[in-house]
Amino acid sequence: VKIGIVGGTGRIGEGMAMRLSRIHDVLIGSRDEEKARCTCEICLKEASERGIPCRVTWVSNQEAVDGSEVIILAIPYKHLDATMSVLHGFEGKIVISPINPMEKKEFFIYVPPAEGSAALYLRTLLPGSARLCVAFNNIAGNRWRDIDKELEYSVAVCGDDAESKQIVMDMIDQISLMKSYDAGPLSISPAIEGLTPLLNNIGKCNRMKDVGVKFV
Ligand SMILES: NC(=O)c1ccc[n+]([C@@H]2O[C@H](COP(=O)([O-])OP(=O)(O)OC[C@H]3O[C@@H](n4cnc5c(N)ncnc54)[C@H](OP(=O)(O)O)[C@@H]3O)[C@@H](O)[C@H]2O)c1
Repeated sequence: VKIGIVGGTGRIGEGMAMRLSRIHDVLIGSRDEEKARCTCEICLKEASERGIPCRVTWVSNQEAVDGSEVIILAIPYKHLDATMSVLHGFEGKIVISPINPMEKKEFFIYVPPAEGSAALYLRTLLPGSARLCVAFNNIAGNRWRDIDKELEYSVAVCGDDAESKQIVMDMIDQISLMKSYDAGPLSISPAIEGLTPLLNNIGKCNRMKDVGVKFV
């Protein structure tokens, strides 16, 4: 699968690129191609030191959309409008949202838009033919980036298109020890996104780092 990461230079973007590029062709997108080039070089260096494959290319965010079948929007919720307003060409593509609209005050709180979740809002910005799935919301960037460690997590995936959801789930099941779980339609996305501030609060209150979930 050709995967484009919009915001591929960020905290989860870089680690995702490192993990996914072992198996897939990954386009690391950025508003600034020079920044994407630096991220590519880091990925290539870390991979070559370990003798593992790494198929990454640096591109603009628009090229990441144009050149991929699956697009991961690895950008903060507060920059979603600005990012989507300058991108086009999502027709027929699989779009993955790991976006969690949340704030940190004394504790982490879920702050969804009026639509109910970041994904339900994103749905209104995408063309009808784009196939939106929610995934990867509950795995910390540090864990993605810590490439010598396995990622033994469950990944809840939701979306309204069964075929694209299966493609995303198959993709997830190829990453380390991750296991995907079908969580139902896009309307369940508030629960998946809202789990992250819960995990973060559990981490904060119990002095745990980068708490994740495993469904058993
Ligand atoms: N971090 C985590 O542990 C984690 C875990 C699960 C889910 N998530 C979700 O994943 C998404 C990305 O999180 P992150 O922590 O990786 O974010 P981040 O590192 O803060 O930002 C990701 C990328 O967004 C782009 N960006 C930054 N400011 C921007 C602006 N003003 N306008 C447009 N683009 C801008 C940047 O790319 P360029 O400068 O290269 O364009 C940046 O590298 C978020 O929605 C978050 O809720 C994060």
